[in-house]
Amino acid sequence: MIQFPKDFYWGAATSSYQVEGDNQNADWWPWEKLAGKDNSGQACRHWELYEQDFDLVKSLGHNAHRLSVEWSRIEPREGEFSQKAMQHYRDVIRALRSRGIEPMVTLHHFTNPIWFSDSGGWTDRRCVKRFLRYCDFVTRALAAEVRFWFTVNEPTVYYSHAYLWGMWPPQAKSFFKMKAVHDHLNEAHVEAYRLIHKIYKELKIIEPAVSIAQHMQAIVACDQSIKSRWATAVREYWYNLEVLDRLTRDKTLDFIGVNYYSRHLVHVHNWWIGNLLMETCKDNHHPCRKNALGWDIYPEGLAQVLLSLKKYDLPVIIAENGICIDDDQQRWAFIQSHLKNVHLAMGQGVHVTGYLYWSLMDNFEWAQGFAPRFGLIDIDYKTQKRTVRESAKKYAQVCRTGALT
Ligand code: BGC
Repeated sequence: MIQFPKDFYWGAATSSYQVEGDNQNADWWPWEKLAGKDNSGQACRHWELYEQDFDLVKSLGHNAHRLSVEWSRIEPREGEFSQKAMQHYRDVIRALRSRGIEPMVTLHHFTNPIWFSDSGGWTDRRCVKRFLRYCDFVTRALAAEVRFWFTVNEPTVYYSHAYLWGMWPPQAKSFFKMKAVHDHLNEAHVEAYRLIHKIYKELKIIEPAVSIAQHMQAIVACDQSIKSRWATAVREYWYNLEVLDRLTRDKTLDFIGVNYYSRHLVHVHNWWIGNLLMETCKDNHHPCRKNALGWDIYPEGLAQVLLSLKKYDLPVIIAENGICIDDDQQRWAFIQSHLKNVHLAMGQGVHVTGYLYWSLMDNFEWAQGFAPRFGLIDIDYKTQKRTVRESAKKYAQVCRTGALT
């Protein structure tokens, strides 16, 4: 049996656009229609059903919950801030607090207001100032009840999918745009970090804990060739650590938020830059189980990733870790095996203080639509009926006792 510390944060994560429904002022809304993708539509109707959802969260023994605030609801038109939307999020946070659940709030989780995207989005020089105005409004409104903040969710995923691969809005395919967004997001975090701390000081509230949620993969060399090993080291830096190195140098991380899902198996056949940076093993050289989207399931990679963070000497919260799969028994096996690796890394000196499963409930999985099922709770999208999965009940035992068998 494995025992986690008493004060460990246990819970699950969601993001506004994926669960709330009806986010008509966000840039994904028109894009889904144009791109012929599943429409997020009503999603899980969490905007209305949050009280009922949080009753489930409480019944599952969670003591923490990560959610995001939707910028496009708060500021539907430039400079026009909605008190009504802000009040909604205040109510949401209170609904968590009144159930004894620690809220952890993300300010940017992939979506932007349409007006923001239409005027250049994250490539435009004004983006940082615009983001900060929104952060200022939200932080002041929630400071009294929120301690944990994630400024930006997965900057590396956002700028690569939206500005390099052209897979997400605005579907750019430009190295230079991606580089601009990379720089702007870093700057946005640094400035937002300072702003949030300044506001808490001004309001004389106990210090906040501010970070980003960094997407990290277990980057593993498939073969022992110099090319593959060299590419592995380069990708480890560019994909996983570069942003963290920079933000820790700026002293703007109070903890590290880690999102971990999968392995990235590096197999490089020649020295072309594209191969060095992107080529992966296509030959199933190191077979492993896959989730419903074909991602490798690689629990030992979580320990690997956590150990790579030791050098920063900061607390770590697993802000997302999850599996989309139809066979729920595999979900429990996934949680169990990943938690064992969290514990292993803790034994080797990584100060992990929380684990949030992705996701609380099935939801809108971006360009993949509603088919992938990540949830601890099953959603019937026709009736909006919630059904707690068996894996959620087993995870609840861990959340209640801190013990894993
Ligand atoms: C994102 C989530 C997403 C999940 C599964 C993370 O990259 O933060 O929004 O649903 O992975 O793909």
